[in-house]
Amino acid sequence: MIRAKTGIPEFDEMLGGGLMRNDAIMVAGPAGSGKTTLGLEFLVNGIREFGENGIYLTFEELPDQICRDAATMGWDLRKLESEGKFRIICTSPDLITAAGKDGNILDDYIRGINAKRIVVDSLSHLEMFVDERQFRSEAYRLIMYLKRKGLTSLLAWEAPQMMGQTFGVTDVGLSFLVDSVIMFRFVEIKSEMKRALGIVKMRGSAHDKKLREFTISSNGIKLASTFEGYEGVISGSPHKAADEKMLEMFQFASKKR
Ligand SMILES: Nc1ncnc2c1ncn2[C@@H]1O[C@H](COP(=O)(O)OP(=O)(O)OP(=O)(O)O)[C@@H](O)[C@H]1O
Ligand SMILES: [Mg+2]
Repeated sequence: MIRAKTGIPEFDEMLGGGLMRNDAIMVAGPAGSGKTTLGLEFLVNGIREFGENGIYLTFEELPDQICRDAATMGWDLRKLESEGKFRIICTSPDLITAAGKDGNILDDYIRGINAKRIVVDSLSHLEMFVDERQFRSEAYRLIMYLKRKGLTSLLAWEAPQMMGQTFGVTDVGLSFLVDSVIMFRFVEIKSEMKRALGIVKMRGSAHDKKLREFTISSNGIKLASTFEGYEGVISGSPHKAADEKMLEMFQFASKKR
């Protein structure tokens, strides 16, 4: 098994069967776009469907809050914890980086539940605690550490959504360090705010290049249509492709007649 499936069927299909095991995958997107939700779903499905235990490492939220939010999706994290299949680690980023030099505080947790998956939520918080020039090498060290431990890692990265621009300089710098990049965005279509995801890069695998709409509900993440016929979805200002617009105008005109 070289794939670590997310358990979201159509997403796994887009990924050519699932994420690559032992890879570091960056999930980049603006606030509220679904990074944490995808991360938790990846971990919960890993445990329930694929027998892979997981760790949720966060620098921002409190365990109770995460458990409460996860419960609205029907994910009982406390139960998974009590079964020894899941761990939430809330810690300060400097503990992760400082301890990286000798043993890492993650060592015991990983060994303790024989973890195969980890979500780091988020690299952006790590960035706030390290010197700007150090950040890339700190991120790299964390990524290599997780690889050595045999984990498949999802790394959340808050990338502000600017019109016409998806990635900043730091984003690009980081994307070299990871094996895959999944991008989340909000797009406006017919005055409605929609969620979209795309696979920006995936080392060593064929993958879908299309942007897909997705929804978040009490059942978690679900993929919907591609944005067929819309141009500019990535820049955040989609408009229908010219030929389709032309077709609509013709139809409208012939109806009028
Ligand atoms: N039970 C639910 N039913 C429907 N939608 C939900 C539910 N729970 C969360 N959401 C939606 O998911 C969004 C939060 O997604 P999530 O926390 O995964 O985003 P994020 O990218 O991690 O954000 P941040 O950068 O703030 O951490 C909410 O704003 C809400 O729209
Ligand atoms: Mg989040």
